Amino acid sequence: MFLGFASWLHKTPISLALQHQVAWLWPACETLHFTGLALLLGVAGMFDLRLLGFMKRVPISVVKEFMPWALAGFTLNLLTGIIFIISEPAQYFGNPTWWAKVTFLIVAALNAMIFETAYGRRAAAIPAGEDTPIALKVIAGVSLVAWLGVLWAGRMLPFLGAGVGAGL
Ligand code: HEM
Repeated sequence: MFLGFASWLHKTPISLALQHQVAWLWPACETLHFTGLALLLGVAGMFDLRLLGFMKRVPISVVKEFMPWALAGFTLNLLTGIIFIISEPAQYFGNPTWWAKVTFLIVAALNAMIFETAYGRRAAAIPAGEDTPIALKVIAGVSLVAWLGVLWAGRMLPFLGAGVGAGL
């Protein structure tokens, strides 16, 4: 089903337009994708470490103030990732490692939503020097594993399962 969609997408005008610009567009998007992931993992990772109980001298509300940078990094990754997919859909839809990346992304996003809706305010009220409850430590652990999973699966795309859907 997805390979049929990939084959259709590859022939759409927007995909053809991107394919014609690929010589400069691909390296530009790779650079922006790396910038985005550095921002996202740098900021969200620091936040997760504080939730896990490290750097207790720093109030959680202060680390949280950096979070818009993580969101900016994620947005950059989303936009550049969509450009990769539209340019070469079969390269990804036919690759099991791509679906591992999507799974990690969904886990990370759901986990972030649970944190924001159920624990965001409570967490921000924890003052400097105070440890976090176990629920926040679990959320931070899941977040770290999921984002590192996205990173790992992204880097492994050319090495694990590549070529399964190539040539469409
Ligand atoms: C938000 C949605 C995202 C989408 C749609 C997306 C999509 C993609 C795609 C299609 C590629 C393959 C590029 C290529 O073939 O050269 C890729 C590469 C990669 N992505 Fe993402 N990505 C997203 C988010 C992320 C995030 C959040 C991270 C890190 C936490 C990440 C880390 C990577 C890495 C390390 C690579 C490998 C780049 C390389 O070494 O060539 N991606 N991504």
